[in-house]
Amino acid sequence: MKQSIYDIKGKFEAVTRRIDASDQISERNRQLIFDFCEHRRLQGASNPRLKRLEEPSRSKQREAALSGVPFLSSPPEVAKRMLKLARVGPGDVVYDLGCGDGRILIAAVEGFKAEEAIGYEIRDDVYKKALEEVTKANLQERIRIANSDFFEADLSRPSVITLYVDGLTNGKLKQKLEKEASPGTRIVSHDFPMPGWQPLIEDTFPDHSHTIYLYVVPEAFSRKGVT
Ligand SMILES: C[S@@+](CC[C@H](N)C(=O)[O-])C[C@H]1O[C@@H](n2cnc3c(N)ncnc32)[C@H](O)[C@@H]1O
Repeated sequence: MKQSIYDIKGKFEAVTRRIDASDQISERNRQLIFDFCEHRRLQGASNPRLKRLEEPSRSKQREAALSGVPFLSSPPEVAKRMLKLARVGPGDVVYDLGCGDGRILIAAVEGFKAEEAIGYEIRDDVYKKALEEVTKANLQERIRIANSDFFEADLSRPSVITLYVDGLTNGKLKQKLEKEASPGTRIVSHDFPMPGWQPLIEDTFPDHSHTIYLYVVPEAFSRKGVT
């Protein structure tokens, strides 16, 4: 069934209402969410009835991520703040799920002395860029990047997980994290809260340009929180 732009807009607004607990979502992120909604509509995944009938296969989901997920970097001051809030230090294993150009991984190892950093990046072009950056920084020994879907990652290993993906993806990831993340893991999300989890810290930049949510496993799961 063909949907009009108004249907898409309606969905877009519903999603932003759900994830935008603080009314501080930036125009850039509205566009990001809109892109996701549009892509999901094309896949039929945004229609719950269709979704029940046909859950997209892994390869379809990978395709969707490849063509529909925008690559948008966290500015350096945001990356630094995320790692600071998570108190990254020696002994930490940091995972960036959707690592973009690898900047968070590099900052974790170089600036915060994390023992190791692992990134997942599904887009080939962005993955190659991340590898280049890691090689340039000469950190190949301590940073590894997988050119694959983070839904296939074992999330029991990291002590810190960083995220900058949309609210719908966070919603799906949440179920995986609740099953797999080890107690004590700190999860930091840039701009998009984990629906239903309670952040230990919600840190908004003074100009309202960015918000960072810090969660701790398992305390974040058991308290009522951001929806
Ligand atoms: C908004 S960017 C964030 C990049 C980086 N984490 C940062 O904060 O600078 C999101 C990245 O996640 C990647 N991505 C989205 N879905 C993915 C998935 N299922 N598996 C692996 N990477 C994914 C995208 O290709 C994109 O580069």
